[in-house]
Amino acid sequence: MSGGLAGDALAGLWQSPPSLPARWFYDERGSRLFDEITRLPEYYPTRRETEILRAHADEIAGRCVAETVVELGAGMSTKTRILLDACTALRPTLHFVPVDVSGVVLAEAAAAIARDYPETTVEPVVADFAEPRPLPGRPGGRLVLFLGGTIGNFDDAQRGAFLGRLRAALAPGDHFLLGADLVKAPSRLLAAYDDSVGVTAEFNRNLIEVLRATLDAEGLYVDDFEHAVRWNADQHRIEMWLRARRDVTARFRALGRDWKLPAGDGVLTEISVKFHLPDLHTELATAGFTPVDAWADPAGDFSVTLARAN
Ligand SMILES: C[S@@+](CC[C@H](N)C(=O)[O-])C[C@H]1O[C@@H](n2cnc3c(N)ncnc32)[C@H](O)[C@@H]1O
Repeated sequence: MSGGLAGDALAGLWQSPPSLPARWFYDERGSRLFDEITRLPEYYPTRRETEILRAHADEIAGRCVAETVVELGAGMSTKTRILLDACTALRPTLHFVPVDVSGVVLAEAAAAIARDYPETTVEPVVADFAEPRPLPGRPGGRLVLFLGGTIGNFDDAQRGAFLGRLRAALAPGDHFLLGADLVKAPSRLLAAYDDSVGVTAEFNRNLIEVLRATLDAEGLYVDDFEHAVRWNADQHRIEMWLRARRDVTARFRALGRDWKLPAGDGVLTEISVKFHLPDLHTELATAGFTPVDAWADPAGDFSVTLARAN
């Protein structure tokens, strides 16, 4: 995994503006901080998606009757249990394959699910969901979950490529369940990514510690960076930045390179695109999926779409 971070750091940190893919947030500490974020009052996406799944899980399970459920970016798979309950009610011997880059948390969550769903075969896979790979399961009997609004971490081109690769790994009749956050008032979006107790700030700043430890960096200190959030209206996305509080001069020993960031400049650490549902459905159709049904919570904050591979 450090090879991956080295490559992404070389590709991103010396660009203008510097940037890193969001996956590098999720070492064990980052994953636990994200879990805390999901319980913050400002962070509506988890609560809203949970509401939608509670209301429609039986319908979703009934439409797919899945034999194999693959969850991309599974994390703790907390909400997933709502779907597992509905799926195992129809077919007790389910195969559940949670996929995540965060190995410790994935193993922990998979063990808890294996314990609580004794008839389900649980097979955690530590992998990057953006890399092409064959998916387990019988063609036509698969349900792929991508929840939490994680699809928003891709820019437009990356998202198109991801959906195309996913479709290529599936067979006609397989299903895809996609949770996506919707465009709303910027004040609510900004609050969701900049909570009042500072957990999201810690989550963002933890990336500096991941960089320091993994790439053996000298002169790189968490306290030299502050969390900054911006709503980019043109690209309808939230952006999280790490802004330098002073001139930063660091040496990445693992890369053999020096890095400078002037005070006030930032590193773009996450984008979170917010969607208009018709546009997202057009993108799904372009990739070879037919949206079968879609639901939003009563407040219209979040969406879940069930699509079938053509
Ligand atoms: C926003 S969290 C969502 C977690 C969970 N699905 C939810 O809905 O609460 C993103 C999850 O995807 C994982 N992740 C991020 N980038 C990834 C990648 N490229 N490949 C695999 N997992 C990734 C993270 O470790 C984290 O568990």
